[in-house]
Amino acid sequence: IRRMTVPQIRAKKGADPIVSLTSYHAHTAAIVDKFADFILVGDSLGMVMHGMDSTIGVPLDLMIMHGRAVVRGTKRALIVVDMPFGTYEESPNMGFRNAAKIMKETACGAVKLEGGARMAETIRFLSERGIPVMAHIGLTPQSVNTMGGFKVQGRDEAAWKTHIDDARAVAEAGAFALVVEGVVEELADKITAAVDIPTIGIGASKNCDGQILVLEDMLGLNPRVPKFVKVYGDLGPAIERAVAEYTEEVKTRTFPGEDNVYR
Ligand code: KIV
Ligand code: NA
Repeated sequence: IRRMTVPQIRAKKGADPIVSLTSYHAHTAAIVDKFADFILVGDSLGMVMHGMDSTIGVPLDLMIMHGRAVVRGTKRALIVVDMPFGTYEESPNMGFRNAAKIMKETACGAVKLEGGARMAETIRFLSERGIPVMAHIGLTPQSVNTMGGFKVQGRDEAAWKTHIDDARAVAEAGAFALVVEGVVEELADKITAAVDIPTIGIGASKNCDGQILVLEDMLGLNPRVPKFVKVYGDLGPAIERAVAEYTEEVKTRTFPGEDNVYR
């Protein structure tokens, strides 16, 4: 295997910060591939690429289509594909069947699923049968309807034990890494200290073993990002400037120019 492997990601715990971003698309993935240890084909693609209000409606086939695009566009990073809502929660058997379908049809290296202790049995079932699993705890967007919104977790210290127990349960079940999303900083630090697998923070803490952001958010394509996102790029305004200039040149018949026509 030429790509970053699951054991290599795992071995970065306590050593080397893990760099990751989401990507859904061959051309952007090829750029991210120059830097990232792993690329997540997140089910956030339902909201980012397809305008959905949440990730609940994302179908398995859509994850597979985008997963394939990202695998084709990359060569070094480990590619992790999200299991969408409704494709794994029911039973370990169902989870295995759908995770195997994702791996066979995309050639990705691992899957990710949401949930702590309640998903431990499924995580064990998959990882013992050749499917590396990244877990995801804290704010789990597929539970938006039971949470009553996208809410930062652990504001009340009374809830910390549940989250730490979730982290321990997924690590013990064989998850190779753990996304910790939308939790107060001190809780993220306690989770990172409690497990021997790398934690990947998003809206969490700089002390996590790695960080992840949604690529479009950090590139400035999303006009309304939450506080935890740092916007490193200017793509939204850059696209607007380019489209405005093109519009002007079409209207004034200055595009296509000399160089853009066949003679
Ligand atoms: O779907 C997604 O993009 C994610 C990350 C933000 C962790 O799950
Ligand atoms: Na996700």
